Amino acid sequence: MRKIVIAGNWKMFKTQAESLEFLQGFMPTLEQTPEALEVVLCAPFTALSLISKNLHGSRVQLGAQNVHWEDQGAYTGEIAAPMLTEIGVRYVIVGHSERRQFFGETDETVNKRLKAAQDHGLTPILCVGETKQQRDAGETEALIAMQLEKDLVGVDQQNLVIAYEPVWAIGTGDTCEASEANRVIGLIRSQLSYPDVPIQYGGSVKPSNIDEIMAQSEIDGALVGGASLEPGSFARIVNYQ
Ligand code: PGA
Repeated sequence: MRKIVIAGNWKMFKTQAESLEFLQGFMPTLEQTPEALEVVLCAPFTALSLISKNLHGSRVQLGAQNVHWEDQGAYTGEIAAPMLTEIGVRYVIVGHSERRQFFGETDETVNKRLKAAQDHGLTPILCVGETKQQRDAGETEALIAMQLEKDLVGVDQQNLVIAYEPVWAIGTGDTCEASEANRVIGLIRSQLSYPDVPIQYGGSVKPSNIDEIMAQSEIDGALVGGASLEPGSFARIVNYQ
């Protein structure tokens, strides 16, 4: 049985005070949520420590949004894996399209980050996906195959989550058809050496489309941006029908 993982990606949103306010609204909504479902909150670095203290003993896992490949060093502005594990972080998003697009992330650096995360016992959530231009040019399958080939060199697939995030669907309200997401995720799975890697869909996931997304045979969860910022909306998503 593949694990189901639903993760909120808060991006550059929420101060510590706003994070606590979220938890007050969100935590009570998890009482009926099946134990088998992994719920993850990927918060900004500045809120992680405080959230960790407040999640202690709860079923929600804490995630970060990036990690450097060295344990320490002269890398201004970066965060190392031991800094995350020390405060109870368990997951880390790696290779999000916003990092690839705006911060020069390449498949080579993604690969290094994945391996460093795993070396420290973190479970990376690797993001892959095509731009609108690549989709329109019929390059989706080849692009994703290439991302996986380069990103996964030497990576332990037994401690990994993959998120299929079509770039054109992120933050646009323009969700990928559930059946199309299912098709691409099936292709991703066919390229893995360990087929039970949980593969999420991400890109404009909302309370109104989560049920259809989760009904697809290949989709094992969701990576949720905008709709994870509000407790009621994220609660509806993790309590999908
Ligand atoms: P979105 O973002 O849900 O706001 O589209 C998803 C993501 O970037 O992970």
